[in-house]
Amino acid sequence: MSETRIGLLGYGTVGSAVHRLLGEGGEAIARVTGGPVTVSAALVRDPAHRPSAPAGLLTTDFARLRDDPEISVVAEVMGGIEPTRTHLLELMAAGKSIVSANKQLLARHGEELFTAAESHGVQLRFEASVCAAIPVVKVLRESLIVSGVHRIDGIVNGTTNFILTRMVAAGASYQDALREAQALGYAEADPTEDVTGADAAAKIAILASIAFHTRVRTDEVNHVGIDGLDLEDVTHAAELGYQVKLIASAMRVDGSVVARVHPCLLDGDHPLASVQGAFNAVMLRGRSIREVILEGPGAGGEETATAVIGDLLAVIGTSGTGFLQHDGYYRELHRLPLEELRSPFYLRFTVDDEPGVLAQVAKALADESVSVARVVQHDGEGVHIVILTHTAREGSVRAAAGAVSRLGFSRSAPVVLPVLERSS
Ligand SMILES: NC(=O)c1ccc[n+]([C@@H]2O[C@H](COP(=O)([O-])OP(=O)(O)OC[C@H]3O[C@@H](n4cnc5c(N)ncnc54)[C@H](OP(=O)(O)O)[C@@H]3O)[C@@H](O)[C@H]2O)c1
Repeated sequence: MSETRIGLLGYGTVGSAVHRLLGEGGEAIARVTGGPVTVSAALVRDPAHRPSAPAGLLTTDFARLRDDPEISVVAEVMGGIEPTRTHLLELMAAGKSIVSANKQLLARHGEELFTAAESHGVQLRFEASVCAAIPVVKVLRESLIVSGVHRIDGIVNGTTNFILTRMVAAGASYQDALREAQALGYAEADPTEDVTGADAAAKIAILASIAFHTRVRTDEVNHVGIDGLDLEDVTHAAELGYQVKLIASAMRVDGSVVARVHPCLLDGDHPLASVQGAFNAVMLRGRSIREVILEGPGAGGEETATAVIGDLLAVIGTSGTGFLQHDGYYRELHRLPLEELRSPFYLRFTVDDEPGVLAQVAKALADESVSVARVVQHDGEGVHIVILTHTAREGSVRAAAGAVSRLGFSRSAPVVLPVLERSS
């Protein structure tokens, strides 16, 4: 098995998570790529900032990564524009492919970086730069090339979505919701990039560029943030059945392109209206795909690291024999019996209209430790007793339903349907 050696520019929140997840996923990675992937060195400003890093891994000497012929791919997770841009140009000139999580760098200097990648015959991948764990870049760049995507609408900034969610749910003012976001670590001490829409503008510039195959620059994206938004307007909108969200949009209209970031009212049944808290979501519309919606965590060290690793493995897997030649199914796992699955359940019993029936149904459920959340009774052709349970073991619910069906008052087999909850 051939080993792939990589370098990290940065060993902070994302970089250290990349290192840890590469280790934890080592067996699966080796199976799909054909060999282990190991980190040779990680560039930092000061190793004293990262006391838990393994000895010998951290360096302040960029040349150690650039001049190591064994390092074939480098993940850039240090952020900033300079010296990052110069480092990437030098690494590509040295024949190394790059994976970057840096939206501002990509949005501002993408053209120069891609030209360098092409001329040096290396790859430049940047999934983690937009919406962290959501694989929207790969979907747009690789899966939907001929789908005729003509419109993108997204909630691409978790900080502002968290603030807006709190304004609606708790009636908090913008300032109070921002303070709460900072206390919980969802907002930086200086939240300017997020709340002014500048962060979302860089992300929609990247998405518009890859969707429409034309370079859309960040400074072309008109952006209005949520920093001037009044609680009154959020409340009035809610009364009218609308949610206020910070929406980043890009569209192609009759051969023209436009991208913007703006607080918008969304109808209550719009798919993006239900995106709560720090989550992100992107809705893609195109001729052949109609509507594709991707939703998930848009930030966080481990979440972002998964996207960085996905890109690293794509680079490694598309060179040489590549991972497509390897059998990714390499282990046997125990099968969990369906009876052990847990969720709330909907139950319907059709019974004779007799006194004491409800009590016997309740007892059958209690005997199996199934607790009842709601009961509704409908009269008609036989009485329908409809029960919503709390979370319970499927085997216990089915045993209780079976016990009820054997009682004399049951007119037909009970209906048992699991309830799929968002949190399950
Ligand atoms: N965190 C997230 O949730 C998230 C989500 C999406 C994208 N991103 C992007 O991922 C990148 C990294 O973010 P992060 O949160 O991991 O940042 P971070 O925790 O601040 O870590 C940055 C790392 O880069 C190193 N570094 C910074 N400037 C350097 C320089 N000039 N020379 C050498 N090393 C330098 C730092 O060195 P020291 O160790 O010495 O401080 C640190 O190890 C950024 O581009 C960010 O926008 C982050």
